[in-house]
Amino acid sequence: MSGGGESGNWTYGEYLQLSKLLTLQGEERGITNDEMHFIIVHQTFELWFKQIIKELGEVRDILNQEQVPEHEIPRAVDHLTRTTEIFRLMANQWGVLETLTPQGFLAFRDGLGTASGFESYQMREFEILLGLQNEDRLGGMDPLEGFKKAADKNKETFQIYNKLKTVKKQKSLVKVLMDWIGRTPIMGSKFESEGDDSVVNKYIEDHLEAHKKHGENLYGDSISNKKISERLSFSNNSAREFLTPEGKISRARAGLLFIESYRELPLLTWPRKLIDGFVELEESIVKWRHSHARMVERIMGRRIGTGGTSGVDYLDATSRYRIFKDLWGVRTILIKPQNRPYLKNSEFYGYSSD
Ligand code: HEM
Repeated sequence: MSGGGESGNWTYGEYLQLSKLLTLQGEERGITNDEMHFIIVHQTFELWFKQIIKELGEVRDILNQEQVPEHEIPRAVDHLTRTTEIFRLMANQWGVLETLTPQGFLAFRDGLGTASGFESYQMREFEILLGLQNEDRLGGMDPLEGFKKAADKNKETFQIYNKLKTVKKQKSLVKVLMDWIGRTPIMGSKFESEGDDSVVNKYIEDHLEAHKKHGENLYGDSISNKKISERLSFSNNSAREFLTPEGKISRARAGLLFIESYRELPLLTWPRKLIDGFVELEESIVKWRHSHARMVERIMGRRIGTGGTSGVDYLDATSRYRIFKDLWGVRTILIKPQNRPYLKNSEFYGYSSD
């Protein structure tokens, strides 16, 4: 086996530092088979969290450039794909824990004291890196608060607190992604070029008009029904609010709509793959959160958690968190390709004729 950096005449065990790794499960406390399994599953998750932070950090650095070189986008997509696969793997890993019976868990649960996954600082780090906002957490919770309180008393917690504070100050993935999408050429008009505002405005208005017609055609005669017409006008207003929040054009959302609407254009291939990569990632996180809750419900019912939360209800609430809200939001206002606004400057996007 060989590794990067210093090359050594390693044995397998040396390279992986197995003699250290395999002494970290607390066997000296005389743990049962059940508890060892509980610890190993947690430890593998934390190892994966470490990898996830590294992968996502790379994606953030790639997108956080003023001019993102086109050839770096496929690399960002690769990092996202790997991260998604890790979440999928972890979602299946709850199945291993489900071999623990409620009684088997209760046999060692008291020994955990107040220790809980709730205190997983790596989890908090990747949530912050992705861009989960405190106001979107249950009860507007600030995950740094607990670490801050204990930071004076404990050197390790102090370091964790500082690390999380640093990550919080940096740009999140959702921010760099939306900034990047905001620079998408729309109908051939480049970001900040002369006349760009009016091109984008026209595009938005054309789309909203087509969106309105799309709804009217869909409901035909039933449009005279009060409830349906109210729903339609609500959806038209929401579409307008999405693209022009508080009356101001959101170029990022317009760019996103453009990429999603004209997905087949050669120049938009990698942008849409990148966006798909984020959607898949968030979906895999949501599913992972959801299956954690189901596993917990099965093993400990609806009792409160060792971390002091309501338990399953809390976990279910976390599975409703969304970070890449606009990527989800745009789906509601898309219309069928036949009805989308006529594409101008198609050659700009790699099509040879209009
Ligand atoms: C028998 C197994 C498990 C049970 C019964 C369980 C239960 C819970 C409960 C009730 C919570 C809510 C916080 C609290 O009040 O404690 C929680 C949170 C959490 N657990 Fe587990 N858990 C188990 C296994 C795991 C494993 C293997 C991991 C992997 C690291 C994990 C990671 C987490 C994380 C990261 C949170 C925080 C979620 C958030 O705040 O969004 N749990 N768990």
